[in-house]
Amino acid sequence: MMVITSETKICDIAVEYPTAIPVLERLGIDYCCGGKHTLAEACARKSLHLAPVLAELELQQQDTSLPEAQWQQAPLKKLAAYVVQQHHAFTRDQIKLIGDLLSKVEVRHGADHAEVFEISKVFAAISSELTHHFFCEETILFPYIGTLDADQPPASPPVFGNVEQPITRMMTDHDQAGEELRELRELSNNYTPPPAACPTWRALYRALEDLERDLHQHIHLENNILFPRALARAGKQSGKSIMECA
Ligand SMILES: [Fe+2]
Ligand SMILES: [Fe+2]
Repeated sequence: MMVITSETKICDIAVEYPTAIPVLERLGIDYCCGGKHTLAEACARKSLHLAPVLAELELQQQDTSLPEAQWQQAPLKKLAAYVVQQHHAFTRDQIKLIGDLLSKVEVRHGADHAEVFEISKVFAAISSELTHHFFCEETILFPYIGTLDADQPPASPPVFGNVEQPITRMMTDHDQAGEELRELRELSNNYTPPPAACPTWRALYRALEDLERDLHQHIHLENNILFPRALARAGKQSGKSIMECA
């Protein structure tokens, strides 16, 4: 069992102990794009005391019941399919729902609350970027990653040269999405509706927060498990070592 210390990287905690993810999420500790930081660094960034966080994570370590623990061994094809069916599908539904709620809130309250238009602007950007991003993953990158499960390299080389290029590109998109999620959180005052907000407005913030939580888990699965495993497989098949995904 990995011992969690102040120097353990956040992404390693999330990979080894998926049951720790809800704790990280609740504390606002970034475990997907910012997962390379150590626990001590992440706590310092959030002005959190290290000892109670460490104690809570140690407690979660004992629970290994979540099915996510399987993803380090499962075939890459199966993991990629899970990401698409679970996370891409959820995000697409959520984008539609949020779009509907946002247009209602804009019409009713936009004139008195400029932040609604700001949220709308950032949401339009993130939703169109994610739509394109999912298309690239589903039509180009993931089908190729699925072929890496076999012991032999695929008969024809990938259209994109080597697998590092699209992975780096996808990870840059993830950073961008992470930045936009932070902007949405800030603009919405941590998804806290004004006291007199109507039910639609409350539903909008809840839907945005659900989108954020799911995207964190989704990006974590890709950045910290799927992509590093794919890079390692591709390196093995080509007989040369591919640099670890930084
Ligand atoms: Fe994805
Ligand atoms: Fe992605």
